[in-house]
Amino acid sequence: MKTIIEPFRIKSVEPIRMTTPGEREQILREAHFNLFLVKAEDVVIDLLTDSGTGAMSSEQWAGVMRGDESYAGARSFYRFEETLKRITGFEHILPTHQGRASERILFSLLGGEGRVVPNNAHFDTTRANIEHSGARAVNLPIPEASEPANRHPFKGNMDVGALKVLIDEVGRERIPCVMLTITNNSGGGQPVSLGNIRAVSEVCRANGLPFFLDACRFAENAWFIKQREDGQKDRPVAEIVREMFDLADGATISAKKDGIVNMGGVLLVRDPDLLRRAGELLILTEGYTTYGGLSGRDLEAMARGFEEVLREDYLRYRIRSTAYLGDRLLEAGIQIIEPPGGHAVYVDARAFCPHIPPEQFPGQSVVCGLYREGGIRSCEIGSVMFGGGSEAPPMELVRLAIPRRVYTQSHIDYVAEVFIALKEKAGALRGMRIVEQPPALRHFTAKFEEI
Ligand code: F0G
Repeated sequence: MKTIIEPFRIKSVEPIRMTTPGEREQILREAHFNLFLVKAEDVVIDLLTDSGTGAMSSEQWAGVMRGDESYAGARSFYRFEETLKRITGFEHILPTHQGRASERILFSLLGGEGRVVPNNAHFDTTRANIEHSGARAVNLPIPEASEPANRHPFKGNMDVGALKVLIDEVGRERIPCVMLTITNNSGGGQPVSLGNIRAVSEVCRANGLPFFLDACRFAENAWFIKQREDGQKDRPVAEIVREMFDLADGATISAKKDGIVNMGGVLLVRDPDLLRRAGELLILTEGYTTYGGLSGRDLEAMARGFEEVLREDYLRYRIRSTAYLGDRLLEAGIQIIEPPGGHAVYVDARAFCPHIPPEQFPGQSVVCGLYREGGIRSCEIGSVMFGGGSEAPPMELVRLAIPRRVYTQSHIDYVAEVFIALKEKAGALRGMRIVEQPPALRHFTAKFEEI
């Protein structure tokens, strides 16, 4: 098989500022060992997130110029609405400024004391918005999800048996909706099978529970379904996507992922009453229903981005380039969550530095080590991100998230080389302690010191 090349040419470039190890040491200390507090200019390769960091296409930039900035009923809104209706089959499309705005609106309406919201695995902002409303966020992943070396093809699946048990235990009247995060970000960027989406949707229907998708990475999830699930390989990705949405009563989407834009979100709701109340809240806090806190140009860019993400040559390249990094790390004996995820490679920090216990944040030590070694910015997904909440995280992970259409193969080779060099020194990595932290979402602003 021939090399799978980037299916685009580069028209505009942005220089990377190189830093020395001495500079990085000082920068790291000034940032209190929290990479969220480091200036982006001081990063060589930025794998902090795939969210809002993608490169827009020339067609998207052309759309930016065509943006209609009218307050109500802008042409750009109708363009965006038409595209999302076609892709998702939903009748009504609410734009929001990003995923968590959709979550906040949804859980202001569905959350509250005594309620319970199950998910395969809540992302941090989803969990925080649910808990902020007074409700409880429960993760129900399949057991394979917490075994890094297990190569289950759909490790993002929800444990349907556990969902039924939960419904029996807490009672359906206390569950305002069931969610599925596709792909499962906190659990390794792992896909959910169409079979699992159907099964969860059936349990919801049987119990009269609304079923919502957290569909940030819906196209990547659909590509995995096409590649891995029996009977799916000959279907167009767009058709699989449509079936996924047809099974749901609603969805929250951060367009900063598979919308390939720098800012934007979507809220989809079928129930007319809930839709009306969501629209009212949207106007109250985001903006009128035909712009939802965005500019007309953002809506144009989203409309194109959601179309471009469904091109199969793009998805083939996208998923293959993530796997390329994962495979290189595995070959070097670095345990990742196998198989590699869609938008990111997740390294098992507990295996990388077994001498650092979870309460000393091994993931954060690796994150700092990668920055020192090569100026790479990554993200801890473990006891720093989730340890302050209501459920202890099952794994200590370091996520290398790949921005869409931004880095070339040689950038990725460099990342692998830095990681392999760090492995030689892993025994010298030191645990961390938190010296300052906010009450929620502490990973963004917490300050650390080395033990
Ligand atoms: N749901 C999932 C699964 C996400 O990954 C994110 C964001 C959100 C919701 C919230 O969307 O940022 O637009 O408000 N994830 C980013 C990340 C931040 O780095 O994984 P948002």
